[in-house]
Amino acid sequence: GLRKKEVNVLCLGLDNSGKTTIINQLKPSNVSPLSEEWKHVSQTQAQEIVPTIGFNIEKFKSSSLSFTVFDMSGQSRYRNLWEHYYKESHAIIFVIDSGDKLRMVVAKEELDTLLNHEDIRCKKIPVLFFANKIDLRDAMSSVKVSQMLCLENIKDKPWHICASNAIKGEGLQEGLDWLQGKFL
Ligand code: GTP
Ligand code: MG
Repeated sequence: GLRKKEVNVLCLGLDNSGKTTIINQLKPSNVSPLSEEWKHVSQTQAQEIVPTIGFNIEKFKSSSLSFTVFDMSGQSRYRNLWEHYYKESHAIIFVIDSGDKLRMVVAKEELDTLLNHEDIRCKKIPVLFFANKIDLRDAMSSVKVSQMLCLENIKDKPWHICASNAIKGEGLQEGLDWLQGKFL
């Protein structure tokens, strides 16, 4: 049959924002809030989630696309790894902890650095934001998160923000459907 289109997705955001939890939700052992369409083809099994060291690579297939997701560590000491993957990335997922008001300014700094990087600035790649951990009692709304990060200033790339609860898998499908739509 036809070869599936290969899409490299870079998953970024501060440590503890929920990147690995989101990606873990795509694994088939999690009987799903997510649709059957998302078939995971990596060898790894769902496991207890620990802070990522460096990065992990996960592969997922939908009916017409083959995604390679680079799940980067958000810890400050590993953030300098991110830029090495900008050139070959076709999409970005940027995860924010909606309950972490103190570090929202740090998240904004990292986002601005990313968007101003020479390997990203000129590319019209889609950026999907997850305002994650909306289950937390004092979580900010996705509208508030989007204001704090000044997302309306992003004019040269398609972007979308979804509120999510990665532990329950809520909000993830909406975001992934949007992202997938950019490659169909
Ligand atoms: P690094 O790998 O260190 O960059 O972190 P990460 O962004 O991959 O975060 P990770 O997925 O490891 O999640 C960090 C913690 O947040 C874990 O204890 C998760 O269980 C928790 N967590 C993730 N998503 C949610 C959510 O939607 N709600 C709540 N309440 N906790 C969450
Ligand atoms: Mg992680």
